[in-house]
Order: sequence, then C-alpha cells, then structure tokens
Amino acid sequence: MATCSFWIDGKKYEAEEGTNLIDAAKENGVFIPSLCYFQHIDPPLGTCRTCTCKINGRNDPACTAYIHEGLQVEVNTPELVDMRKALVEMMFSEGNHFCPACEKSGNCNLQHMGYELGISVTRFPHLFKDHLIDYQPKRMIMEHNRCIKCKRCIEEVLTKDEKRVFMSLNRGNETMIGIDYEQEARLTDEQAINAMNICPTGAIIVRGKSMAKPFGERAFDMVSAQKQFKHNILEKPNKGNFEKKTIATVSLAGCFGCHMSMLDIDEEIMDIAELVSFNKSPLTDIKNFTQRCHLGIVEGGCCNTENIETLKKFREMCDILVVMGECAVWGGLPAMRNTIPLGECLEEAYLNCVTSEQGENTVPYHEDLPKILDRIYSCNEIVKVDYMIPGCPPTATHIWKVVKSLLWGEDYSLLYSEFKYD
Ligand code: SF4
Ligand code: SF4
Ligand code: FES
Repeated sequence: MATCSFWIDGKKYEAEEGTNLIDAAKENGVFIPSLCYFQHIDPPLGTCRTCTCKINGRNDPACTAYIHEGLQVEVNTPELVDMRKALVEMMFSEGNHFCPACEKSGNCNLQHMGYELGISVTRFPHLFKDHLIDYQPKRMIMEHNRCIKCKRCIEEVLTKDEKRVFMSLNRGNETMIGIDYEQEARLTDEQAINAMNICPTGAIIVRGKSMAKPFGERAFDMVSAQKQFKHNILEKPNKGNFEKKTIATVSLAGCFGCHMSMLDIDEEIMDIAELVSFNKSPLTDIKNFTQRCHLGIVEGGCCNTENIETLKKFREMCDILVVMGECAVWGGLPAMRNTIPLGECLEEAYLNCVTSEQGENTVPYHEDLPKILDRIYSCNEIVKVDYMIPGCPPTATHIWKVVKSLLWGEDYSLLYSEFKYD
C-alpha cells in the first residue's frame, strides 16, 4: 500500500494509506484518547466520541477516519482537549460511578481515561438515575450503573455458534444493554471472562473472577497511556537546533510571591534563559506584548478592571494560558474580602483605618484609576484557563517542570509532598 503524508497539529507524519487514524497517530507517537475503539472491530463502532478531533476542518471521531494523502488533523488544541474531556465527564455524570467500591478499579478504561484527561469533577449535573444491577445471569453480574453503551459487548461477545449474548434495548436516554440469559449460560468460562475484559468499564462482572488480579498489578494501577507515547506536540529542547519559546508573565491581585518563587530556580535560570525568552513580564519590565507568546503565566486573581483587561490580553496573546498560585486559582488571601460589601471595605481602608487622617472623608477616585470590583474573581471566572499550578507559592522546580512539560512535552508527575503552602 502507498505511503501517505498527513499532518497532526501542523506537524508532518507518514503512514500507509488506509491506516486507521488512531493507529497511525499511535505509530507516530501521538496519543488520541479512545474508549470504544478496538483494532479488530471493523468497521469501528464510533459510539463513545472520546476520540473526537478536527479532521479536515470538521469535528469527527478519529477512530472512523483513515489516512489519505494530505489529511489534516488537529488533536491537541485547547478546544479539542476540553471537548474530549467534557465527553468523558458526561459519561461520569450519566452513570453512577463509585470507583473506590468498584471491582474494575485499576483495570477500567473509563477510570483511566478520567485520570488521563485530568478529570476530578464533572461540569455537568449528575443524573443519579436508578439503574438496575442484574444478578440473574448464570455467571455474570450486569452493573448497568457503569455501562457507557459503547456496544463492544454486542459486537464481540458471541457464543460458539455465533449467537449474540448482548443487545441494545430502548432508545435515547433510556438505552440500556440487555443480556440474553440463555445465551450467556452457553458461554465458556473463557468467553465469559473475555466479555468482562472487553468491557471498558465495570459493567460486566464475572462472579468470582473480577478480583483475580490484585490491586497494584492491574493494567492501569500506575501506567499513563500518554506516557506510552512520545510527546510530539512540541519539539523537545535540543540545544542548538530548536525554536526558543516565548513566555509572558504577570502578577494581578497577588503578592508577587509566585514570581519570587520562579526566581528561586537560582543558577538553573541560566539554562532556562537558553530555552525561553521572556516577553511582557515584571522580570523584563516589558510593559506591553511585542509578539504572540507560546505560554502566558498569570499570578493573582482579579480585583479591579485593569486586572480583567490584562488577563483578557494574556488570553488573546498566549497560546497556552497557565495560572499559578492559589490567588490565581481561586482568589486566595485577597478573596477574604469577598464576604464583606465593597463599600465597607473602602470605608475601612480609607476612612476608618488607624492610619487615616482625622476627619478624612475621601475614598480615592479618578477616571484614570482602575475601578475596584465587587469581589475578587479567580482567573478562570474571567477567561478560559488551560492549566493551573496550585501552591502558595508553588515551588520553583514545580513551576519549571510544568513549563517544560507544556512547551516540550516532557513527562511530568508531581508528588503530593511537592505541593507547598506557606
Ligand atoms: S466502572 Fe470504572 S469509572 Fe465506573 S466506577 Fe468502576 S472503576 Fe470507576
Ligand atoms: S456493558 Fe460494557 S462493553 Fe457493553 S456497552 Fe456497556 S460499557 Fe460497553
Ligand atoms: S474511540 Fe472513537 S468513537 Fe469511541
């Protein structure tokens, strides 16, 4: 078969014509999340949409696309990453998933995808539907609370004489996967265990077999799917032959502690200076952007109209927007004023404070001064934020590890003990 050139996120790759896009991306070290895709189910199911990418300008599932000459694919734009995350969040909000009590924990593709995509809560309201747990099958338990209706079981689980064991029942929101008790009883032990294993969640459980592999030895106890791939989103720093990245930083309603922390990198700053250049930043004293930047790092939340303008400008001018420190993430210490009406805050600061002049009755006001907001806003309340670095302040190594992993796709993991809150 002919070899074709195709593009992912602006970078050229090669693969055989007709190769499934998920496989071609994988061969080239690019991770596209997937849940329902199974190499040998042809045509692919395309039921979960976890693999949605922009393919030749349209949002489509990658698992149903095939390589052809000139194929253009976007995988890791912030919008697509967020869309895929939202899709998996929906699965969690639609079912009733209690991972700590689930027999599939550590072996579950859905749970693993949740970790891979950084999901800790879902933005959608949980439906808490009263799903059935079906104990009737001879060897299996059907836990409908966990089914994502991927239909792998329908396609893959057949008796020796090719009779289906699972089928789709009802429609729309009421769809559920039915099990034919008679056919289930005819499955061999091996086939029953295979049914449990191909289910990407803990919806199909074989009695007495689900805990056969202990925790700590399960497929996803430690492994990240993304770490099995080379990160090709951005070129790795290879001194002498790489593009210097530009970073902009700013401190809004923060204490400058995060910027001071950044400088704590000490002499390693010399290495960093070879890899990145700073544009608008208190570190350079460049007041206005002189170019678009690869990365923007924002310290502090928004307490006035100027903060809002600056933050919006950062979002506009930076490919990736990172907020660092608790003030930027949720308002931090300045947000203590959020429970007190603004008028009372100003009176206390300018009229009744111990250092106010006797008889003073002016709250500073001038059209050139930024207006104070009714409360402190965290950055994500104002603009879309791509990444958050927690800590107060985060340590220098933590900040630079994040920067390097975002700009050059370096593997990065963080121990709980590395979080710092002074
Ligand atoms: S099926 Fe997976 S995601 Fe759902 S509760 Fe079990 S381990 Fe968690
Ligand atoms: S039971 Fe498992 S394999 Fe079958 S549709 Fe539900 S999640 Fe998919
Ligand atoms: S993996 Fe492509 S739609 Fe499910």
